[in-house]
Amino acid sequence: MAHYRSLGQVPPKRHTQHRLPDGRLAYEELMGEEGFSSDSSLLYHRNLPSRIIDSRPWEVGDLSTRPNHPLRPLHLKLHDLFKADDIGEVDVVRGRRLVLGNGDVRLSYVVAGAPSPLYRNGIGDECLYVERGRARVETVFGSFDVGQGDYLVVPRATTHRWIPDPEAAEPLRVYCIEANSHMSPPKRYLSRYGQLLEHSPYCERDLRGPDGPLLAEDLGLDPAEDTDVHIKHRGNGPSGVVGTVFTYPYHPFDVVGWDGCLYPFAFNVADFEPITGRVHQPPPVHQVFEGYNFVVCNFVPRKVDYHPLSIPVPYYHSNVDSDEIMFYVDGDYEARKGSGIGKGSITVHPGGHAHGPQTGAYEKSIGVDYFDELAVMVDTFRPLEVGEAGQACDDGAYAWSWARNTGAAPDASG
Ligand SMILES: [Fe+2]
Repeated sequence: MAHYRSLGQVPPKRHTQHRLPDGRLAYEELMGEEGFSSDSSLLYHRNLPSRIIDSRPWEVGDLSTRPNHPLRPLHLKLHDLFKADDIGEVDVVRGRRLVLGNGDVRLSYVVAGAPSPLYRNGIGDECLYVERGRARVETVFGSFDVGQGDYLVVPRATTHRWIPDPEAAEPLRVYCIEANSHMSPPKRYLSRYGQLLEHSPYCERDLRGPDGPLLAEDLGLDPAEDTDVHIKHRGNGPSGVVGTVFTYPYHPFDVVGWDGCLYPFAFNVADFEPITGRVHQPPPVHQVFEGYNFVVCNFVPRKVDYHPLSIPVPYYHSNVDSDEIMFYVDGDYEARKGSGIGKGSITVHPGGHAHGPQTGAYEKSIGVDYFDELAVMVDTFRPLEVGEAGQACDDGAYAWSWARNTGAAPDASG
């Protein structure tokens, strides 16, 4: 994010002495992407950021996958994955279950009621979509209050933790998009120098930065207490993901100030301004973020096509280069009789299969002028495999749904 922010106390000149109130030197850490050749921030710590006193394995859970073979479109029912009686013991970091994944991105889901340990993902950026509930996310850059419809983009190697709000009306449900790369707004939304352009469906005013800085004692924690941090990092096993727990002889929330262009940020899907047209607009107009070999789009409530002869639902399409993963978050899917798709559903439309609206929806959409629905889509350019959670909530029947006359009503997702 080439959008400069500065929080807390930083010295007037970078790479110079910065004294803490007790006269000691603060330790400067540059957190930068692509070595020293892309966006970065400078953080000023009270402790040596490299000072660890223990390192031990963290078993990151089942990240195995199986190929989607023989090839089938899939309907995965995420709301079947967690039982209400169990979520008090589940946290957002260790409790997420792998739905789909490949060598570029992992899509997981969690319903959590417990605070997470401190955590950082050393493999890539994370984009966490809050489907329901509320949480406070505390990071070395500062804190966020996140709720329904928020994306939280957390850069690689950001130490943070998730604390669900027990007073929230609904449990915390989070859809986790873990990249093996960085994530950012699409390049075509950005100026040469990184400003969001006029044609972008959102701009800097819509992005929330952290409140900060955040120090351990502000949270009632002992700054000198030994503290564990769960690290997800690169390995050579089948999933490419390995876990380690580091112990520090202090609490890592010790940053007295930071500045730069690399930091976590939040964006609410309600602030995405849909781009509409007289005839059907293709999915790229719905794009919100991109990573290496995948994109994230959102389909928000919107006025639909207004040409007098328009067909508001999508034309049938073959994703010759991608797998298309639609997560249905909100809206009225009651009318999609026969497909079984509703809130909390994921559809997988794999490359090699032409897909589109359910049987009958193409015709019935004529004359409809508004779609009241909300979906988050991930398109990957390499095939996804199915994780243990995806296998556990596969309805097993979606592939044949177009072969039935479902009497379905219009739906924008296709
Ligand atoms: Fe599609």
